[in-house]
Amino acid sequence: MSRSSRRDYSLQEIKKHDQPNDIWMVLYNKVYDVTDFCKYHLGGIEVLYDCGGADATQAFEDVGHSDFAMEMLQPYLIGQVVPDEQRKYHKPPVGESVDDSDVIESIKFDELESEKLNEFIIRRVKESTNLLVLSFVALSSFILLVLIHVNK
Ligand code: HEM
Repeated sequence: MSRSSRRDYSLQEIKKHDQPNDIWMVLYNKVYDVTDFCKYHLGGIEVLYDCGGADATQAFEDVGHSDFAMEMLQPYLIGQVVPDEQRKYHKPPVGESVDDSDVIESIKFDELESEKLNEFIIRRVKESTNLLVLSFVALSSFILLVLIHVNK
């Protein structure tokens, strides 16, 4: 959807889009059509289906999503909640500027985000490997100390 066709939606209207083949979601008063995104969600499809047609801001925050998650959403922005029905937030959402001039237009996940997704997975694998090596070193040191102590 091009930026010019974005508009305001009432909560009642948003609520109608709660099916896997037509699923909208509200995050920080913005409306996203996540129909094409769901299958790429790293937290699984089901959790998104549960939030279909609803305001998922709280659930999204509870998970502690990264800036990357917020960036990933931008191509799916279709508008905002009508001003009368908007919620108040103390701070702008993570990774989102106040105006949306930096929003990437019409580039869908397939073309752009799969590269970022790969980077994300590689980063996670590296983190896990580092953790494993550290645990191994700590355990070996501990065993060595015990052995030295026993042999004294
Ligand atoms: C539609 C907007 C959403 C996007 C773009 C998104 C994106 C992501 C991304 C990129 C991750 C990987 C971790 C990270 O980088 O933060 C993730 C993980 C996850 N997400 Fe979402 N998410 C969305 C909505 C939600 C909602 C509404 C829920 C809960 C109801 C949810 C639950 C989870 C869970 C449980 C994980 C796994 C966390 C983990 O294993 O560490 N997500 N999501």
